[in-house]
Amino acid sequence: MGQALRGRGEPGEAVGYFQAAGASPPLRASAWHAAAECFERIGAPAAAAIAFQQAALAGPGREELRQLYHLARRLQEEGRAGEAADRFEILLAWDATYLDALARHAACRAAVADASPPIRTVSGPAALVRELDDRGLLDTGGTRLDAYDATFYLQFENTGAADTAKKQLEMVELFRALGPVDGYRTSLDIGSGTMRYPQVLDRYGVRSFGVDLSDAGVRVCVDGRWQRRFAVADGTFLPFRDGAFDLVSCMMGTVNHLSAAQRQRFFSEVGRTLRPGGRLVVSAWNPDCRFQTFLSFYSPQEAADLRGRLVPPDVLTSECARSGFHDVATRSFCTFPDWLITGGSASGAGAAHLAWLVELDAERTGRDRSAPGQMFMLSARR
Ligand SMILES: C[S@@+](CC[C@H](N)C(=O)[O-])C[C@H]1O[C@@H](n2cnc3c(N)ncnc32)[C@H](O)[C@@H]1O
Repeated sequence: MGQALRGRGEPGEAVGYFQAAGASPPLRASAWHAAAECFERIGAPAAAAIAFQQAALAGPGREELRQLYHLARRLQEEGRAGEAADRFEILLAWDATYLDALARHAACRAAVADASPPIRTVSGPAALVRELDDRGLLDTGGTRLDAYDATFYLQFENTGAADTAKKQLEMVELFRALGPVDGYRTSLDIGSGTMRYPQVLDRYGVRSFGVDLSDAGVRVCVDGRWQRRFAVADGTFLPFRDGAFDLVSCMMGTVNHLSAAQRQRFFSEVGRTLRPGGRLVVSAWNPDCRFQTFLSFYSPQEAADLRGRLVPPDVLTSECARSGFHDVATRSFCTFPDWLITGGSASGAGAAHLAWLVELDAERTGRDRSAPGQMFMLSARR
């Protein structure tokens, strides 16, 4: 009924039906998301903000429960009993009667108690996480590379677990998109904030530069060496010669600050400053995600503004391809709501927790490539 009324252009009539549907656990996320969109359309932004929060807090639907179970069971069958037990626990928290999850959890816990510490070779995405950890890139103490700035940027510094996970999941996706890093000698990060990514890439021996409209991040957060690698510049007018870079990145939703016309100039400038065959990597917030929460420091008003500027992956893909880029592809990541990030940390934060989130993403996108995550990564070749 709600969908029919919304389809007929009557969001005010539809919204109550969506709220009623939101009482049903499997429909909760999509129903509250639809209610929020109706509130936006009738000009009730505060109600929309609350309804978007309801959607983001919704527990897993049937499909999500099935995926959690499948992942936990696979880990159990691979002999990874401790990790499997943690996954079963998340599932049990939502549905203690789910198939044989309770018995499997008990079996996994018993296996952990019996076993001597496992020695195993890590491969796949988990190996990438371990490598980032070995290079100190997941360190969340002291001066943090994922802190954006000091004034406007300082509020990013004390980010919660969900924000940290999003930034780290993004970092993993970046390296997956890049492939072997020794193929890149020079890079430019557009919207570089505190020069987080230039510093990350420097640890891999890439000579990295950054530009941002604001220099607040570099003034307070980084030393002179990094200030010399930074310029105040607009990503749509780059002060660099043609073909200067092997890699251009534009991360954590910086592209969502741009209008359609600005994005056209952005792609054109990136195309000019990349060498032929060079790589562009852009990470953006996905408007198709039902449990979108952005980063926690955004106020409801900022989140609403951001929401109004989001571009779906297929639109960004065609804009990029129309600007002459090749092999344009997108990948979803953070395909789960925040409660799963923060609620699933029984085994501790850090690399082990990140590795399981990466695995969960792989599980979800492996089954459904178009499953929308909170973010997506676009990768293309010049
Ligand atoms: C969410 S922060 C991302 C910071 C950084 N990319 C990171 O991931 O840590 C977005 C940044 O984009 C910058 N920005 C917005 N519009 C821009 C533009 N047209 N050109 C360059 N930077 C821009 C903002 O000043 C801000 O520092």
